[in-house]
Amino acid sequence: PIDPMSITFQPPTGGMTPSGPVLSRRMSDLEGLFADTAAWRAARDEADPVVYEVASSPVPEAPGELPQSITTIHPGAVGGEFHMTKGHQHPNPQGEIYLGLSGTGGLLLFDGTTPKWIPMAPGVIGYIPPGWAHRSVNTGDEPYRFLAVYPGDAGHDYGWVLEHGMGWRVLRGAGEPRFAPFQAEPV
Ligand code: 6PG
Ligand code: NI
Repeated sequence: PIDPMSITFQPPTGGMTPSGPVLSRRMSDLEGLFADTAAWRAARDEADPVVYEVASSPVPEAPGELPQSITTIHPGAVGGEFHMTKGHQHPNPQGEIYLGLSGTGGLLLFDGTTPKWIPMAPGVIGYIPPGWAHRSVNTGDEPYRFLAVYPGDAGHDYGWVLEHGMGWRVLRGAGEPRFAPFQAEPV
């Protein structure tokens, strides 16, 4: 266990003080996730932009602890499919809590059978029950940022999403996001 502590959230950057590791996911890190492979390759080869960043608290991923992270997804789309996180399952199934901090987006959940969508905005608490894979999507024109709190021994399984998908793809629509079946060929 570690000592009680306070962590300060930095609104301009989505950083935490004190901070643990900070991760940057570029387009090149997201191979095989977007339906439009040609559009993904073009974006990677052109500027390889940072799609999202994850700042972690110093709380360790250990049994009994509750680590937190702040994710910032930059706005944009690849072949009409909104910028999103890789998505994962927690191999040791346990719940997780998200709190919207800025921008607009959503939480795409999939239990292997049924996809669910929770619209996220500042002040919205999204609850992920045990056993639901989750991916975050920026559906707006500004950075979408949220806090996540998860059990320290939950683990992260990224292979599950590559194998099973997330049920839906979230596409730019006329005003509202549009949902397409995950298995769809390039959109
Ligand atoms: C977690 C949270 C969250 C997530 C990030 C990045 O379990 O730690 O769900 O912090 O990891 O939003 O998403 P990916 O882990 O799917 O890349
Ligand atoms: Ni998670």
